[in-house]
Amino acid sequence: MLDRIKNIIGDSKYAYVRSFGCQLNISDGEKIKGLLKNAGYNFTDDETKADLIILNTCAVRENAEDRVFGIVGSMKKLKEIKPSLIIGISGCMTAQEHIAEKIKKSYPQVDFVVGTSAISSIPKLLLDCLNGRKFGVDIAEYDDFSEVTEQVRESKFKASVPIMFGCNNFCTYCIVPYVRGRERSRRQEDIIAEVESLVQNGYREIMLLGQNVNSYGNDFGEINAFPALLRELNKIEGDFIIRFMSSHPKDASRELIDTIFECGKVAKHLHLPLQSGSSDVLNRMNRRYTAEKYLEIVDYIRNKDPEFSLTTDLIVGFPNESDDDFQATLDIIKRVKYDNIYSFIYSKRSGTKAAEMSDFTSDEVKSQRMRKLLEVQREISSENYRRFIGKKMRVLVDDVSKKREGFVTGKSNEFIIVEFEGDKSLIGQFVDVKITDAMNWAVVGRKI
Ligand code: SAM
Ligand code: SF4
Ligand code: F3S
Repeated sequence: MLDRIKNIIGDSKYAYVRSFGCQLNISDGEKIKGLLKNAGYNFTDDETKADLIILNTCAVRENAEDRVFGIVGSMKKLKEIKPSLIIGISGCMTAQEHIAEKIKKSYPQVDFVVGTSAISSIPKLLLDCLNGRKFGVDIAEYDDFSEVTEQVRESKFKASVPIMFGCNNFCTYCIVPYVRGRERSRRQEDIIAEVESLVQNGYREIMLLGQNVNSYGNDFGEINAFPALLRELNKIEGDFIIRFMSSHPKDASRELIDTIFECGKVAKHLHLPLQSGSSDVLNRMNRRYTAEKYLEIVDYIRNKDPEFSLTTDLIVGFPNESDDDFQATLDIIKRVKYDNIYSFIYSKRSGTKAAEMSDFTSDEVKSQRMRKLLEVQREISSENYRRFIGKKMRVLVDDVSKKREGFVTGKSNEFIIVEFEGDKSLIGQFVDVKITDAMNWAVVGRKI
């Protein structure tokens, strides 16, 4: 199939692949690029130069979808200028029937739609388009999820490695279980082989991905398979760091935390999404932990290391969130002192349970709460980050700084942004930095 595409397109065609949403989707985008590369495509970052455009979409919030519809709308012009242009839509939006229908009906510039579990069908859909078919759809759930093909990775030193796909949790606000299906774990040996090969090829950061990495292996009937996987990966020779996300608090075991502390290559940072500080809201979100239970995990960690770095996700304005509920969230973030939070205003997703719930909170109140949350967190972060002044941090350099001339930027082991004087030759390297100053979004230091 790939050879047939190659024969038709030759070697001068360009593809533009843009991924939205979470790192799992970005990783899917890298797999799509792998398929396209094998079919003979080159890549461009300029959609006006492309012969093939694939938008790999996210459905987690309404504004993510609106953005994609805006972009697809604007692509009508590109197609008028270049009628041979092929446009495909992949990713989480396509798994919702009403969206696939809307695309088919209202966006005739789109040539094919492919579901999250049907990435391997892209060559077939593409070949059909090249042979003149008007519109193709494949949103079937194939079980080829684990080892699709080679990937074209965005970075030469940071790699995402999905360890599982789908989600079984059905948090009442969330569309992911509907668009990504049930949990399927990759085999431990396949993950280990992939990480070994990445490390041999110079990758310095391995980010293990799953909607809830703590339930990795449950579908094989294994318990605590995730900490066991971390321990195996920690044995791989080489200078690299292991990160992972996300970790659902309902399954964050002591074994997991002990493993983080005991494994030298595992980053000393935990992203532990809280969503709300109110046990009542957590119950209505179907999160299956209470605020107290969450704090028990935090205390277990902080008893081992009072300065351990924690980050979280929070939703503001869940249906009928009261002032007291919101206050409970503020109280928890002040108590836990996260180094960073990722906060979102609740977005109604049709088909989810929360979409049926009544809601008395106005949009204005939700926005006010969001502003307050960010203000409180800014103060916490600036105070928190001062704890690093005078200390040494090991930084994997990402890029040159966009904010300071002559500086580079990277992430420390604790997932803190660190900036220091240096040039682009340091990108992709670990550098020891002595911290001299702290802001509310980063720390600054000197290369040792
Ligand atoms: N599986 C991860 C977990 O449970 O922590 C979360 C993955 S989700 C893609 C990332 C974040 O998006 C969630 O933690 C939540 O804060 C946010 N989110 C999900 N659905 C949302 C919605 N309907 N409205 C606003 N934020 C939402
Ligand atoms: Fe969504 Fe909850 Fe699954 Fe995370 S655990 S993806 S928030 S349903
Ligand atoms: Fe990720 Fe968005 Fe899908 S956050 S799993 S790309 S809905």
